[in-house]
Amino acid sequence: MRALITGGSGFIGSNLVELLLKEGYEVKVYDNLSSGHIENISSYVDKRDIEFIEGDIRDAEKVKEATRNADVVFHMAASVGRQRSIDNPALDSEINLVGTVNVLEGMRANSVPKIVYSSSAAIFGELKEPSINEDHVQNADSPYGVSKLAAEKMILSYSGIHGITGICLRYFNIYGKNQRYDAYGNVIPIFAKRIYDHKPITIYGDGEQTRDFVNVSDVARANLISSQKCNSTSIYNLGSGSTITINELASIMQDISGIKVPIEYKPERVGDVKHCKADSKKIENELGYRAEKKLDEGLKEYMEWYKAVCVK
Ligand SMILES: NC(=O)c1ccc[n+]([C@@H]2O[C@H](COP(=O)([O-])OP(=O)(O)OC[C@H]3O[C@@H](n4cnc5c(N)ncnc54)[C@H](O)[C@@H]3O)[C@@H](O)[C@H]2O)c1
Repeated sequence: MRALITGGSGFIGSNLVELLLKEGYEVKVYDNLSSGHIENISSYVDKRDIEFIEGDIRDAEKVKEATRNADVVFHMAASVGRQRSIDNPALDSEINLVGTVNVLEGMRANSVPKIVYSSSAAIFGELKEPSINEDHVQNADSPYGVSKLAAEKMILSYSGIHGITGICLRYFNIYGKNQRYDAYGNVIPIFAKRIYDHKPITIYGDGEQTRDFVNVSDVARANLISSQKCNSTSIYNLGSGSTITINELASIMQDISGIKVPIEYKPERVGDVKHCKADSKKIENELGYRAEKKLDEGLKEYMEWYKAVCVK
């Protein structure tokens, strides 16, 4: 199988590169390295195990060229995150929506039959229920949520009009190897940085809010399974099957590192939900996917990786 991974030098994409190579895929990565890191994939690029094309998803001609000869596209290139999109909404839409059209047009021109798209729980906006299945109301409340939802809809339209099979995987909170700290980042890398910097951790609210964290190895596997087993256009929520409070998370991460830092509690942020869990029954029932990595094991691996790679 020949796979094109857009955004393949990023956090999730680089983990998928590793898995697809193990599975014997021919892998091509298309990425402009804007938030991805060439170090995530340089060992494969140097050994010519994969082909790396440095390019922007907004460059329609170059994207079309990249899709040539692919059997499947894993589309992960995106401007990621709510706050980033609020700061630069036009850029968000150009990359996330127009970029997706460019990928689909390239696929259409080159008769590529299948796309596995990295979507997001951000398409739901404010979460109204403690366990979120695919039918939860879609009230995207940020430019990012809107562009990710619009890209899903675009994939569905290409499926209907051009017969491309589109599989949209809606991720919730993902963590794991190659997830670096950035200013717009997620809670686990932020906590890791604070702990290894010996600085206080900030928790908004009382810390008893719960979240569903999925290890990136499970997300990469869900992409692989989707490409292999899913032959009709489908949408799936992707979770871990369990939740943890933010207080417990901070405590476990400190225990793993052997470093104790103060916790500073700040008022709850507007829009933060108390409990959030993905209902992944649909992908479990239809494709046999189930998250395998236990959170304590995944956090231990993550903290080891973070210490080795990110702590100077
Ligand atoms: N990390 C999460 O918790 C999470 C949650 C929900 C959805 N997602 C989705 O998963 C996908 C991967 O996210 P990630 O967490 O690995 O983020 P990431 O920032 O590490 O990866 C995104 C990749 O896309 C590349 N990219 C960005 N703009 C580009 C452009 N204009 N042209 C070409 N490449 C470009 C970046 O360089 C990077 O390698 C995204 O589509 C994101 O929306 C992630």
